Amino acid sequence: MGIRFSKFVIFILLQLFFSGFSYGTDIITSSTNLSDGRTLVSSDGSFELGFFSSGSSSKGRYLGIWYKNISVQNIVWVANRCNPMNDSSGILMINNTGNLVLLSQNRSVVWASNSKREAQNPVVQLLDSGNLVLQDRIAGKSETFLWQSFDYPTDSWLPGMKFGWDLSTGLNRRLSAWKSPDDPCPGDLSYGMEVFNYPDLVMWKGSKKYYRVGNRIGIAPSGLPRIVPDQFFTINGISNENESYLIYYPKTKSVITRLFLNQTSSSAERIIWNEEGRTWIVYSRFPSDDCDIYGTCGTYGTCLNTAIPPCQCLKGFKLKSQSWHSVDWSQGCMRNNPLNCQKGDGFKKFGALKMPDAAHSWLFKGMDLNECRVKCLEDCSCMAYATLDIKEDRGCVIWFGDLIDLKQFQSAGQDLYIRMSAADSDHEETKGKTKMMATLIIAAAILVVISVFVITYYICRKCRNIEEREIGQSNERQNEDLELPLFEFVVISKATNDFSSDKKLGEGGFGPVYKGTLSNGREIAVKRLSSISGQGLVEFKNEVALIAKLQHRNLVKLLGCCIQEEEKMLIYEFMPNKSLDYFIFDDTRRNLLDWPRRFHIICGIARGLLYLHQDSRLRIIHRDIKASNVLLDNEMNPKISDFGLARTFEEQSDGRTNRVVGTYGYMAPEYAIHGQFSVKSDVFSFGILLLEIISGKKNRGFYHLSHSVNLTGQAWRLWKEGHPLELIDSFVKESCTQSEVLRCIHISLLCVQQQSEDRPSMSSVVLMLAGETELVQPKEPGFLFDEKTLQIDSSFAMFESTSRNELSLSEMEPR
Ligand SMILES: *[C@@H]1O[C@H](CO)[C@@H](O)[C@H](O)[C@H]1NC(C)=O
Ligand SMILES: *[C@@H]1O[C@H](CO)[C@@H](O)[C@H](O)[C@H]1NC(C)=O
Ligand SMILES: *[C@@H]1O[C@H](CO)[C@@H](O)[C@H](O)[C@H]1NC(C)=O
Ligand SMILES: *[C@@H]1O[C@H](CO)[C@@H](O)[C@H](O)[C@H]1NC(C)=O
Ligand SMILES: *[C@@H]1O[C@H](CO)[C@@H](O)[C@H](O)[C@H]1NC(C)=O
Ligand SMILES: *[C@@H]1O[C@H](CO)[C@@H](O)[C@H](O)[C@H]1NC(C)=O
Ligand SMILES: *[C@@H]1O[C@H](CO)[C@@H](O)[C@H](O)[C@H]1NC(C)=O
Repeated sequence: MGIRFSKFVIFILLQLFFSGFSYGTDIITSSTNLSDGRTLVSSDGSFELGFFSSGSSSKGRYLGIWYKNISVQNIVWVANRCNPMNDSSGILMINNTGNLVLLSQNRSVVWASNSKREAQNPVVQLLDSGNLVLQDRIAGKSETFLWQSFDYPTDSWLPGMKFGWDLSTGLNRRLSAWKSPDDPCPGDLSYGMEVFNYPDLVMWKGSKKYYRVGNRIGIAPSGLPRIVPDQFFTINGISNENESYLIYYPKTKSVITRLFLNQTSSSAERIIWNEEGRTWIVYSRFPSDDCDIYGTCGTYGTCLNTAIPPCQCLKGFKLKSQSWHSVDWSQGCMRNNPLNCQKGDGFKKFGALKMPDAAHSWLFKGMDLNECRVKCLEDCSCMAYATLDIKEDRGCVIWFGDLIDLKQFQSAGQDLYIRMSAADSDHEETKGKTKMMATLIIAAAILVVISVFVITYYICRKCRNIEEREIGQSNERQNEDLELPLFEFVVISKATNDFSSDKKLGEGGFGPVYKGTLSNGREIAVKRLSSISGQGLVEFKNEVALIAKLQHRNLVKLLGCCIQEEEKMLIYEFMPNKSLDYFIFDDTRRNLLDWPRRFHIICGIARGLLYLHQDSRLRIIHRDIKASNVLLDNEMNPKISDFGLARTFEEQSDGRTNRVVGTYGYMAPEYAIHGQFSVKSDVFSFGILLLEIISGKKNRGFYHLSHSVNLTGQAWRLWKEGHPLELIDSFVKESCTQSEVLRCIHISLLCVQQQSEDRPSMSSVVLMLAGETELVQPKEPGFLFDEKTLQIDSSFAMFESTSRNELSLSEMEPR
């Protein structure tokens, strides 16, 4: 190894000796230099180092690194950020003591690497990762860099770059935004890792905290998927006494991506290069909503962006300041019952939270949760504790002082145990000294509860008037963990008139749906699940609780469930305007949906689906996206229904199923034929739905395909012939914006491509709908069933029989 390496070095040196400096090489040695106008290119041609001018007006010259192959603004590193050279006389070279220096015309140093060690044979190389490194080639250990640009990032975090601290040297690798698009000098937005006691990623605006990820390193961090979505990236975190950093790589090597700070939008953006469109796509951006902004809801306030108002005090807390006309959340919340450390406080568990700011926290690696609780209880200023490492379920963090910057997640986050007065705390949390007293109190309380219960029971029996339990009054003793309300069967039965047939709204893939009215007047939809699944009660409740956590304004809200022996029911909010098919396929009602409304509906469906696919922790594949599964609320906002059911009530493995639950005409070829479902099969169905909304026609399925062409085929023909606008529903022709419809048609054709990898993801679709990306030309779409596929696959027969049923049923499904 050593010998081979030296040979390699000698070879390179000889090369340089004889040829001098030449274009295209990726190194500078002590005898060569880089002057303005020339560049270093990494060996595989991905990155280039050289001089550039920023902006059109300024003449200043900067030394920087950019993607060689991308012409769109793409500078990933700048050496002399605030100190531009006034002319093109700049020279980059290695000086006598082995430092990399940038010299101006009069030989004054404009910028220098600050390597401490002197090198005997210094070589500067631009690596394929975009890292500019200075190393000593004589030492033989090429891996130890004397200096590297990855240690001094500017505004970009590239794959393979450590983001965080080298604690032994005090080196902090953090990002700062360009002051403006023309000025690489740092603006006031910066982002880095804070290592108080456990590491956290914090974005600053000047000296004020602006956004905090709230994750913990080396574990499944609560906020992390938003920064680095894990279907695309592998991310690792290291945190020990020497180092604390994050590092990531794209799963596909060819993906060109970086995260950078954008001063204009005050956010960090993850962008991915789209080769076909020759543009950058913004994959994610954060802070992404008001709830992300640091401390929005003050101390002990949690933020939930789907709620109105988004701020809420934690249970057991109340607003500090509230007047009749204004609510001031920045003041935060305070306890209903004050703490009393001497007499004995306890803890209450709060789930799915973003952990509070770690500035005043302490951690104990070896402790388990019980020891952690004792530790916190012992110290009167300790306000909360939690598990440090949720993956391994060990370690302990405790917080001192008021807790701030909490956020309520719907399907992520962690458990936090907050110190509460004895009255407000969970009951098992009692301190040794006061245990007896507390036990007595509990016993008394239980006695009271029991007597109340007994009395109520008798009263009820007497008057034969059983009170209904409704939302929010769920039976908490039975379901401590299940936050989802359980409805009594009598309540549901009464609400639906004993499931009378005139209350039946329709029949879906999983059973009939009834309309119900609770005694308080609230309207509900009740889905009576056919007993298709052999699931146990616990699994059923768990699954339903998971589905209930999926909350988005474009999803129908699950209110609760009801279990009566073998029978299981799901209770949803009622949608007065039925479903999309009720409008778009009806000759008179279609007039009610003009183009702006339809476009609004399209965008809503796309966002709802994106949430299912990507933003929720569960990664739901809907598998039955169709017009009748899109319900409409009072204001004609679309809400996707029936999500999560296929996942829950079907046996499946590895994205394959034996029972295809979709609806013919909407199904992707690979799903219909091989039972193979993925987010891309949903994209296909979405594409069909898009065509239907635009045209007001149903996509005819394969039954009639042999000679007539279906909607997809028609759309493709019109597209090829150059008059795609003929596809538009004549009723919306007047109200439509041509470019918008055209874009929608284009997108729909991309969604219904034969090969799933040719279809865009829902995140791209949302971007495309917003007009933010250029669209690639579609290939011929997948016509669901041509004669070839009919003959090839024998499993098709089975599919045909299930879907034929669902065809007739699905038409009536709206609730
Ligand atoms: C840079 O290298 C060129 C030859 O490649 C040489 O003529 C020039 O003097 C060098 N400049 C400096 C400042 O060393
Ligand atoms: C550069 O881009 C072209 C297309 O514009 C592509 O064919 C080529 O492979 C790219 N080269 C590298 C090194 O990425
Ligand atoms: C460029 O010119 C400005 C003023 O004209 C001066 O302040 C600055 O130091 C110069 N920069 C360099 C690198 O010579
Ligand atoms: C090389 O550059 C470094 C950094 O500017 C400086 O500290 C050092 O004195 C320089 N060495 C020589 C010999 O000029
Ligand atoms: C080189 O020029 C810069 C400005 O262009 C000036 O500040 C500096 O003093 C000059 N150095 C020498 C050695 O002349
Ligand atoms: C930290 O650095 C010291 C000194 O180099 C080394 O002995 C120790 O093993 C390192 N610790 C870890 C966890 O790598
Ligand atoms: C920064 O954000 C602004 C506003 O959202 C956007 O117009 C601009 O293109 C972004 N800058 C870059 C380099 O993407």
